[in-house]
Amino acid sequence: MPAGPGRNIRGVNLSTRGELLATNRPTPRYIDEHFARVENRWDPDANPDGYVSMCIAENKLVWDLLGPKLAAGREVPQRVVEYDAMVGTASFREALAIFLERHMVGRPIDPDHVIALAGAGTVLEMLFYTIADPGEGILVPTPSYSGFWPDLETRDELQIIPAHTTSESGFRLTVDQLDEAVAAASVPVRALLFTSPNNPLGCVYSHDELEDIITWAETREIHLVFDELFALSVYGEAAFVSGASLRPALGPRIHLVWAFSKDFAASGLRCGILVSENEGIRQAVDGLAYWAAVSGDTQFVLEQMISDDAWVDEFTAENQRRLGLAYREVTAALEKASIPHVSAQAGFFFLCDFRPFMDEVTWEAEAELWEWLLTTANANLTPGADCHIGEPGFMRLVFPSERTAAVVAGIERMGTALAERRRS
Ligand SMILES: Cc1ncc(COP(=O)(O)O)c(C=O)c1O
Repeated sequence: MPAGPGRNIRGVNLSTRGELLATNRPTPRYIDEHFARVENRWDPDANPDGYVSMCIAENKLVWDLLGPKLAAGREVPQRVVEYDAMVGTASFREALAIFLERHMVGRPIDPDHVIALAGAGTVLEMLFYTIADPGEGILVPTPSYSGFWPDLETRDELQIIPAHTTSESGFRLTVDQLDEAVAAASVPVRALLFTSPNNPLGCVYSHDELEDIITWAETREIHLVFDELFALSVYGEAAFVSGASLRPALGPRIHLVWAFSKDFAASGLRCGILVSENEGIRQAVDGLAYWAAVSGDTQFVLEQMISDDAWVDEFTAENQRRLGLAYREVTAALEKASIPHVSAQAGFFFLCDFRPFMDEVTWEAEAELWEWLLTTANANLTPGADCHIGEPGFMRLVFPSERTAAVVAGIERMGTALAERRRS
């Protein structure tokens, strides 16, 4: 086929789908801006005007605990360099089943129902590939983790149907909002993707709230995927309840996703987990796993880590303590800077309300303010628009993405700049 217009990037012919990917990169701008600035990080002495990242969902508060544990598991056996099951070695999946039972679900999990792939994003992409066909809809309550859009829409070609919650009701989700979103959808809705603890709200959902969600999905006979990546990163009063713990079995339509990325501050190791009792789904994912397997070396090191119950308990307790401490320090800094925010009890986030700093509360004004904060205060937040929130004026702030002193310095700079902007 001759190269038509737009099929010839930089002199190299691409397929239509390659061209589409090359010209519509799924990465949002705040992430590109982050990587452009990251080498110029804030330092109190050497670089006080340096860049402060508050936009990437990472936890930098526990490396002193994690680093030695990873290093201690380096005596690897030969099998880590050999081919093995692409969905995870038998011993890793056994260790994961015990870990998930003990720390999240509270009842035995069959290791055969556990699959490990290269990160939660990959798990979601492959799981939804097997659940829905191109053009079909997946319901996602908003505000939401921005990555669901590339995960589900880029290669799976699904359409996310947002179920918007509102600031007026503290962004709590009701089943009426789910009904409204389904009614407004122009495509069949095949699943609900539900995140608890929530990114970016930092809330946990109670047993009763989860019961309503599960009953809603069961009544409609659609798949329900619980994304529980922040299950162990709860620092507030409310206890985490896993959606997977509410029924004696998951059945064919409830699936659980977790990863080492957040609760073990190990996003770079790329290890995400799927628990599904649906044999067909597991077989289909198995058919794709070869292209996104977790390295044998990483599986081995993580297996050693999660098999040490005492270490996991100690690490988790200390991680939660540090998250709570950082949350309180950052709350004080936000209050001093007069930046209102939704209070949180889990995860890495504040959803900040910048409406008081806008003359007109519009999407354009939000984008302008985000850019202005980036250039004036050298501080990068996640725009609410990227969280697909239903109303403009909000931005997500990730508080453990740098040491707390850096985040506090970034907020102070934003507070000073915003106060000056108000006066001028
Ligand atoms: C709710 C949620 N799900 C999935 C992911 C993707 O995680 P991973 O880095 O393991 O692909 C993230 C990352 O921020 C997330 O916040």
